[in-house]
This record gives sequence, C-alpha cells and structure tokens, in this order.
Amino acid sequence: MNCPTATTTTHSEPLTTDEFFHDVWRGLTASPKYLQSKYFYDEVGDGIFQEIMACPEYYLTNCELDVFSNKRNELANTLLSYFRDFDVVELGAGDASKSIHLLDALMKHEVDFTYYPIDISKNIITYLDKKLPAALPGIKIHGLNGDYFDMLEELKEISTRNKVVLFLGSSIGNIQLENTVDFLKELKSHLLPGDLILTGFDLKKDPSVILAAYNDAGGITRRFNMNLLQRINNTLDADFDLSQFAHRPVYNEQTGACRSYLESLKTQRVRIGEVGWIHFKEGEQIFMEISQKYTVQQTDEFALAAGFTPVRHFYDSKRWFLDSLWQCG
Ligand code: AVI
Repeated sequence: MNCPTATTTTHSEPLTTDEFFHDVWRGLTASPKYLQSKYFYDEVGDGIFQEIMACPEYYLTNCELDVFSNKRNELANTLLSYFRDFDVVELGAGDASKSIHLLDALMKHEVDFTYYPIDISKNIITYLDKKLPAALPGIKIHGLNGDYFDMLEELKEISTRNKVVLFLGSSIGNIQLENTVDFLKELKSHLLPGDLILTGFDLKKDPSVILAAYNDAGGITRRFNMNLLQRINNTLDADFDLSQFAHRPVYNEQTGACRSYLESLKTQRVRIGEVGWIHFKEGEQIFMEISQKYTVQQTDEFALAAGFTPVRHFYDSKRWFLDSLWQCG
C-alpha cells in the first residue's frame, strides 16, 4: 500500500511456460510462421514499449495524449451525462499516462469511482499500484493481472456498478481485421446494457508517417520484435541467433494493415529446448504483429456490427487518431 487513502489489490501471473511453449511451437511450425504479439510484453518488452512510446516517430501516444489532456473535461462531462455512479476499467492499461488525465478530471468532479486497470503484465500492475496513488492521492485502484475477459469476469464478483471501459492506444489494431467484430462481441458479453466503452483507433494517414512509426531510426521497434526471440531463448532454452534475423515492417495503404515480420537472413535451423528444430529458408519470415489503421466509417461499422451504439467521436488536433465512445445496447 503506497498511500493510506488508496486501495490496492493485484492478482498472480497467469502465463505458464507450458502455454508459452505451446503457442510458440504452434506458430513456428505453421506455414507461414507466426508468433503472437501478446508475448512481446515481458519485463524487458514492457520497458522497450515505453521507449517506443517516447520515440519521435511513434505519433500514436502523443495524438491520444492530446485527446486526453486537452479534452479531459469534455470527456468527463460526456461520461457524467450518461451516469453519475460508475467504475472505470482500462484494458491493457500500460503506464496509464493518457487515462490519468481523465481519472484526474473525474476526481475533480467528485465522482466516487474505482479504477480497475487490467494488464497481462504483472510489472505494469505493480507499477500502477505504486504510481497512481502517488500521482492522484485518494484514488481507489484495484489492479487485475491477467487476460482481459478472465479479469472482466472476475470483476463481476467485485463491482456491480456500470462500467466505463477504456481500450486505448489503438490496441484494437493488434487484432486481425476479420476477428475484430468477434472480439468486440465477446467484450460486450462481459458488460451490462448502458455501459460505455472508449476505444482508441489509429486512423489511416500518409503511409510514410505510419511506416516510420514501426521502423524508427533508433531501432527501438526492431529491438522490441527481437526481444521476443530473446524471450524464447531465455524461457524455452532455444538458440535463436538474433543477428541472423532482420526487422521488416510493411504498410498496405489499401487495407490499412501495418504488419511486422522478422526475416531470416540465411537458411538456418533453430533449436527449441529438447523438443526439436525449426528450419528457416533464407528470406523466410515470421509474422510478428499487425497494427491495423482505420477509417472513421469502419470504426462506426464495427460498433454497430458488435451491438454497440457509437455516441461520440473525440479526435486529436491533427485528426490522426480517434477515441470513439460507444454504448452497450
Ligand atoms: C500496443 N500496440 C497498440 C502497439 C501498436 O502500435 O501496434 C504495439 C507496437 N508495436 C510496435 N510498435 C508499437
């Protein structure tokens, strides 16, 4: 407990080495090969992602910060026009550097809420438990470490209030387009009628701006991707030679899909513990991550297809990024 007036709870790390091994093995033996980007976020990966967010090319964070810092009162007043008593849930809370502005505004409006950050990373939850009560004295915070949907179920046992769910940073973009509506329908199944969800969407824009954000000159995003190979080496006793892979992001202007790959620089084989070998041809790629970019119309269509009603759009000053508020039908 960091602050006498704050309430803090965390839950244990859900990921087992077995699950990690199973997912890695399945991905690397598939054709084409892939790894799941959720595994970027170990302790080192969390730190590299912080560096990405601070790097000049990665505009997403600044755009959304623009929305949350400059429109905090507009956001708070809009939420309060729907209900007076509610709790705030944040999916993939990260360092809460954007949501903190809204939380601050809600506290100034004397809203009696508890903030429930949900994150797959235990480090993040531990960090928030320390940082937020220091930054916002008196805040009630109850961190939940685990999978979004498991934690939303757990939350039902803890809070019966209406929820305002924050799903920021265009994390939705890390879901393949064809799975997005199913994801949103599942999310809705964990919420109550009337609940609100504020989702951050990175909008389509000049392709060179988008590509630079995933191919920064300082090589931070490259390290972010490579760190997953390092994590496999460390955790599963594998022998990836990182110098024999190159980071290759590509952006498709038509579909809005920005995809990151790691490309094998030679024909090689990689041992995964005692289990077996993965063979790579020269030029063969591992699909690492999608960061989907959207049109505004597409985001409204997702809402409607999943059973939400789009109620308000909040843009940054460049209109590069959209935080869209939806209500559960
Ligand atoms: C977390 N997510 C929204 C980031 C993105 O932009 O897709 C992850 C990331 N990957 C590379 N850079 C940032």
